[in-house]
Amino acid sequence: MQSLEIIAMLNVEAVRKDFPFIRPGRVYLDSSSSSLTPEPVLARMLEYYRDYRANVGRGIYAASRRATDEIEAARKKLARLINANPEEIIFVRNTSEAMNLVASGLNLRPGDKVITTIQEHHSNYIIWLREKARRRIDLRVIGADALGDLNLSEIHGEIEKGAKLVSMTHVSNVLGVRNPVEEIGKVCRENGALLLVDGAQSVPHMRIDVKRIGCDFLAFSGHKMCGPTGAGALYIRKDLQGDLEPLCIGGGSIEDVGVDYYALRAGPYRFEAGTPAIAEVIGMGAAAEYLMDIGMENIEAHEAELTREMLEGMKGNRKLKIYGSIDPKRRNGIISFNVEGMDPHDVAIDLDRAAGIMVRSGHHCALPLMKEVLRIGTGSVRASVYLYNTKSEVRTFVETLSKISESGTGGAG
Ligand code: ALA
Repeated sequence: MQSLEIIAMLNVEAVRKDFPFIRPGRVYLDSSSSSLTPEPVLARMLEYYRDYRANVGRGIYAASRRATDEIEAARKKLARLINANPEEIIFVRNTSEAMNLVASGLNLRPGDKVITTIQEHHSNYIIWLREKARRRIDLRVIGADALGDLNLSEIHGEIEKGAKLVSMTHVSNVLGVRNPVEEIGKVCRENGALLLVDGAQSVPHMRIDVKRIGCDFLAFSGHKMCGPTGAGALYIRKDLQGDLEPLCIGGGSIEDVGVDYYALRAGPYRFEAGTPAIAEVIGMGAAAEYLMDIGMENIEAHEAELTREMLEGMKGNRKLKIYGSIDPKRRNGIISFNVEGMDPHDVAIDLDRAAGIMVRSGHHCALPLMKEVLRIGTGSVRASVYLYNTKSEVRTFVETLSKISESGTGGAG
């Protein structure tokens, strides 16, 4: 009964009242793609536009100073979310931009070994293919077994033989499985390799501590953690910041400029040229606060309960093929599957028509995993849960899926 006690710590009915998108007839199971945004976050963004709409770091008047203070407060909240120092948080647009910054900003030379994995989202894959073509890095792609689990001894072996950087996802956006990034971080430290973690699917859902992971870079997006689109963050360990070339330079990132020279500022501002997405960054900070107020452990426990229930309900259906480990203890709240004889997009359309159930279908921006490991070039259906989903929604999903798989249609025409 312990799990029921844990779930009771997250009052899901109270949480749902914060999300205006939630209403009868809608079952949102696509939070891994983009999450819903609660009223307190929307209110903080509107407050900026209504009460202190001015640029940051550039004006001496009260509204501009307030905007600057609010954006720096957001930096502190994001730092607290992942146990970093505020000056280690760089504002970017999203996880993709964050990882592009690292790939192009590191001084990679021909022959430098970079390790990534077959599980990666395209955003953490093609950036390395590009550096392979552009700077002739020695790219190693770690493989996986038929379930999609990474070959950990291969990663360890490659790091021990010498690597400049390991760049890998914490949680697979297709399979939901968690990778042991703390263990890999330890091997990286022992062997002088850097570690970039794609936290897009982990930071919104569980307690993250960059010091415990021992990573050098961590990338994540605001729109997957109850914030708005257009704002994300990159953690860069402080002592590495000076070695990294910014993706973009310009206003806001300079210390001094002369006719024939420029000097960049130290700290996060070095990477933040131009006017930032002010309302969105404030919103992302408010989202971090919202999640921390509820408690990351409570969110994780709630999602674990829903995932267990969803897996249980789906396991009995012989027409379904579930991808990845079906051990709920190894997963976050993402389940990819196919219905025998049906195209994944048709299943997604049927779920929507039959019961307003929103899921993602297709390759989930992970074609190497789809093609080489799971052998499903046509993709899969993916359902994902978050703090606002309920057991009743999970049951609706399982029952509707069962009807669709029996008849090949949800029956809603
Ligand atoms: N990265 C997002 C997903 O997995 C868009 O759906």
